[in-house]
Amino acid sequence: MSTPVLPSGVEGAPGSVEKCPLDFARGERFSIGQHHVGQALEAELRVFAPFLCPELRLWLLPPEARSWHATDPLALGMPYWAFAWPGGQVLARYVLDHPTLVKGKRVLDFGSGCAIEGVAAAKCGASVLCADLDPLAGVSALHNASLNEVALEVTTAELIGSSLEVDVILAGDVCYEPELAARLLPWLRAQARRGVQVLIGDPLRVPEALEDTARLATLEASFDGDPRGLTLWPTHVLAFR
Ligand SMILES: C[S@@+](CC[C@H](N)C(=O)[O-])C[C@H]1O[C@@H](n2cnc3c(N)ncnc32)[C@H](O)[C@@H]1O
Repeated sequence: MSTPVLPSGVEGAPGSVEKCPLDFARGERFSIGQHHVGQALEAELRVFAPFLCPELRLWLLPPEARSWHATDPLALGMPYWAFAWPGGQVLARYVLDHPTLVKGKRVLDFGSGCAIEGVAAAKCGASVLCADLDPLAGVSALHNASLNEVALEVTTAELIGSSLEVDVILAGDVCYEPELAARLLPWLRAQARRGVQVLIGDPLRVPEALEDTARLATLEASFDGDPRGLTLWPTHVLAFR
């Protein structure tokens, strides 16, 4: 895939970029209505310089994309990987501003989606594993790595509860449902107790779940599905106390 030519620091306007060659055949969750929705998504993905990280490039859906609104969550699940969520943006910014946190380290990007944090860590010299249950997130992560000329590994394995050999875990915007937060946070806390550096990027959608964390930074991230920064939202980089 060649790098699209973009106006400096600006999103890819429709028509100015290549279509994203995502391999939708690998997305098992697209087996219902695969042809229609898969092609619509693929056609509408554009290269954006994400709001908080203008030095990165990501294949994302613009908010006006019809396929976002047409997506049937019952059939597909939402294409979370087609957005750079506020939590991921602040983690990526934090890592880019503090590269020694990850340089030369083994980093897990948990709930990676488009892998904005994983791409940022890889740019800083980390070896990165992106984990997301959605197979298309893995495909998206690999394409975004390629767009930024870095390498990543991906997995769709459920890692909550497993024991991992990593130095750093980046968890961007993964506390968006109380049930998920309740399953995930005890595991993340256990990793932090073993000496893994766990950084959570979160706009506090489920604030009570994150009460025992300290704020390392607060940034105004562009809100859900808004790669252009038209709507900003205070979003935190958090670590367990
Ligand atoms: C809101 S998105 C955040 C994506 C990315 N970190 C960002 O900030 O742009 C949350 C992601 O977590 C993934 N996810 C949810 N539960 C998961 C689990 N148990 N293991 C791995 N990924 C999971 C979803 O598929 C989704 O892609």
